[in-house]
Amino acid sequence: MALRQDNDLYHTLVNNKWVGSESGETVKIYSPDDHELAGSVPALSQEEVDRAIRQTADVQENWEAAEGHERSELLHRWAEELEKMTDEIGYMIHREVGKTLSSGKSEVKRTAQLIRHTAEEGLRTHGSFIQGDAFPGASKSTKAMVQKVPHGVVLAISPYNYPVNLAASKIAPALITGNTVVFKPATQGAVSGLMMVEALVNAGLPEGVLNVVTGRGSVIGDFVVTHPKVDMITFTGGTDTGQHIAKKASMIPVVLELGGKDPAIVLDDADLDKTAKEIVSGALSYSGQRCTAIKRVMVVDSVADELVAKLKEKVAALKVGRSSEDADITPMIDQKSADYVTSLIDDAKSKGAVVVHEGQQEKNLLGPTVLDSVTEDMRVAWEEQFGPVLPIMRISNEFEAVDLEKRNAYGLQASIFTKNLENAFALSDKLNVGTVQVNGKTSRGPDHFPFLGVKNSGQGVQGIGRSIDSMLRDKVLVLNL
Ligand code: NAP
Ligand code: G3H
Repeated sequence: MALRQDNDLYHTLVNNKWVGSESGETVKIYSPDDHELAGSVPALSQEEVDRAIRQTADVQENWEAAEGHERSELLHRWAEELEKMTDEIGYMIHREVGKTLSSGKSEVKRTAQLIRHTAEEGLRTHGSFIQGDAFPGASKSTKAMVQKVPHGVVLAISPYNYPVNLAASKIAPALITGNTVVFKPATQGAVSGLMMVEALVNAGLPEGVLNVVTGRGSVIGDFVVTHPKVDMITFTGGTDTGQHIAKKASMIPVVLELGGKDPAIVLDDADLDKTAKEIVSGALSYSGQRCTAIKRVMVVDSVADELVAKLKEKVAALKVGRSSEDADITPMIDQKSADYVTSLIDDAKSKGAVVVHEGQQEKNLLGPTVLDSVTEDMRVAWEEQFGPVLPIMRISNEFEAVDLEKRNAYGLQASIFTKNLENAFALSDKLNVGTVQVNGKTSRGPDHFPFLGVKNSGQGVQGIGRSIDSMLRDKVLVLNL
C-alpha cells in the first residue's frame, strides 16, 4: 500500500508499511481556507497504537548499535528527499493548516536545513572522562567514563502550526542519537507530517525505527503518553495540554515547548519605523498563530502616539483573505479559535480599549485588530490570543514593563526596542523569559540557537544542539584501578 489511497484517504506508517486502521475509522481534516476536505488519516485504536509502540521499542537496540555516521547519512538523505517533495508538501501544509503556498514551501526548505544541521551536529556529541582525585578520599586510580546514551523510545508530539518543522525538529535529534521514535502528529497537519515521513522512508528508514500513530489526541493521547515502552517525551503545543502531559508522564524526561505572551517593550529612543515593522510582522504573520508571536506591546507614553500611528498604517495595508489568495492575514485554524479571539476583543472593548484598527470577522477569517490603551483588567492583557489582535499597553517607564512581565504566567521571549544597548542589557537581566531579542521581533530561529520557555511556556530546551542533548542521558562506567 502507498501513503495515499483514493479519495484523499491517507495511510499511516507502521514498520515501514503504509496501513489504515483495522476498524476503517478515519479522522477527517478540513482546510481552514475553504472548509473542503484536505485529507483523512487513520484513527488508530489503542491496540494498534500499542503494537506500533512495542515494535518501535523492539528495534531500538539495533538502531542504537548502528554507527553514528550511518545515522547521520540517513538524515542527509532524508533532507534531500524532503527537498524533492517541497512543492507537494508545501501544498499540503497550505491546505491543512491554511499557510500560504510560499510559506508552506519555506517550512519544508527550512526543515531540510534543520535536518542537515542536525545530521552534522549529532556527530559531535561526546561524553567525558573524570579523575577521582578531585574529591577527598578518592584517588587518581578511580576514573569515570561518562558516556552519552539514548533514552530508548522517544514520543514526539507536534502542533498544527508547523506540522513539518516542529515534527522534524524532534524526530531528527532523536534519530541521530540512536533513539527510535513514535510520532504523534497534530491531527490538523497530520497528512503533511506523514508526507515528511514518506521522505524519510524514501531515504532508507529501517523498519520500525519510526512509527506514526494518528488519531485525535483527546482519544489516544493519554494512552500514548503513559505507555510503559515510551522512555522520553518531546512535545510542542498548548500550555494546558503540556501541563496535562507532564502530570501523566511519570519518571521519564519530558521536554515541553508551550504557549507565550511575548511583549515588545518600546523605549523612548527606539527607531520607531523599524520597531513598527518588526512588531507588525512579529505579531501578525500567519495571523498570529505562532507561539513566538508578539502578543502585547508595552510602549512608553512619550512615543506611544507616534508608534500607534505607524502601526495603524502598516496594519491597514495588510491584505486580508484566503491563504490561496496569498493574503497576509488568513483564516484561523478553526472557528473555535476565531471565536476565542473575538471574545478577547469584545471584552477589551467593553472595558474601554481604544480600537485603532478593527478587523471584520467572516466565519474563521478575522481581520487584524489593533487595540490601544489596554489595561490590566482586560483579558487580552494576559491571555494568549494566538490570533490577529495586537494589544498595546502604555507605560510610564521600563520598570512598569518589568513589573507586568513578572506577573505574566508565560515566559517564552520578549523584545526590547531601544538604541541604548546598555539599557537593553540591564532590562534584559530583569526579564524572566527564555530569550530576549534586542531590536528584533520575537522568534525561534536561527534553528541552532537554544529555544526555551520558562514559567508556563515550557520545560527543557530545544534548538538543534540542545535538542540533541535532551535526547541523551549519562551512563557512567567507573574504573577502580
Ligand atoms: P494542542 O491542542 O496542545 O495540540 C498539540 C498536540 O498535542 C497535537 O498533536 C494534539 O493532537 C496533541 N494532544 C492533544 N491532547 C493530547 C493528550 N491528552 N495527550 C497527548 N497529546 C495530545 O496545541 P495546538 O492547538 O496544536 O497548538 C497551539 C498551541 O501550541 C498554542 O498555545 C501555542 O502557543 C502552542 N505552541 C507552542 C510552541 C512553542 O514552541 N512554544 C510552538 C507551537 C505551538 P490533536 O491535534 O490530535 O488534538
Ligand atoms: O509556534 C511556535 C514556533 O516555535 C515559532 O517558530 O518563531 O520560527 O515562527 P517561529
